[in-house]
Amino acid sequence: MKTILYISCSAREYHPEQVEHLSISRSLGEAFLSEYKSQYGQTKVIHRDLSRQPPSFITTDFLAATFSEDVSEEQQKILAESDALIQEVMDADVIVISSPMYNYGMPAVLKAWFDQVIRIGKTFTFDLARGDKPLEPILCGKKLVLLASWGEFNFKKGDSLYFMNHLTSHIEQLCPYLGAEQFFEIASEYQEFGDERHLQSKAQAFVEAKALARELA
Ligand SMILES: Cc1cc2nc3c(=O)[nH]c(=O)nc-3n(C[C@H](O)[C@H](O)[C@H](O)COP(=O)(O)O)c2cc1C
Repeated sequence: MKTILYISCSAREYHPEQVEHLSISRSLGEAFLSEYKSQYGQTKVIHRDLSRQPPSFITTDFLAATFSEDVSEEQQKILAESDALIQEVMDADVIVISSPMYNYGMPAVLKAWFDQVIRIGKTFTFDLARGDKPLEPILCGKKLVLLASWGEFNFKKGDSLYFMNHLTSHIEQLCPYLGAEQFFEIASEYQEFGDERHLQSKAQAFVEAKALARELA
């Protein structure tokens, strides 16, 4: 049995029977999951829809609880949401994130999720005895797949405007803290233009998403 943690966060929705004005990143996510499941029957999918159920923003009390050596009952309650989200990360073999680009980066709900799951003592340790690199990830052995959509173009890794893409680079930077040792990016571009380039880019992203699902299954 393999477990996929599927994180979706577009403010747009996904309905298999409709095609117009729907989330491209969610559609890519569904295509990846159905291809993966058709290749590997023993798949459990945990779906966290961050748009429908946004994670809480972290607070002073949350931080105090994460650093507390003797967690009180009250602090346990404050950490309960984070504990549950971290458990889902720990249980996952593959983490699939379907995400739009908003303002050249990730949606706020996705950032809130990262702030809940990357936690001292749970997903990383901090020790100044390690000198200038005091942080060390705890989890390992996972793969992370980013299925993205954006309106402009040339933002993929290696492309000329990649430096403007703070979605891919940010998530790749965070991979070690989720235990992800391999990172894959697939993106549909040109959504805002709605022209032939967009149709081609989107079609190519679906082909790549299904091929990657077969490879990882
Ligand atoms: C609030 C908002 C901000 C956006 N910011 C950007 C941006 O900075 N760069 C870009 O290329 N596209 C941007 N877009 C376009 C989206 O990335 C594009 O519509 C994408 O398809 C959204 O993903 P989805 O179809 O899964 O919802 C933005 C869209 C919205 C709604």
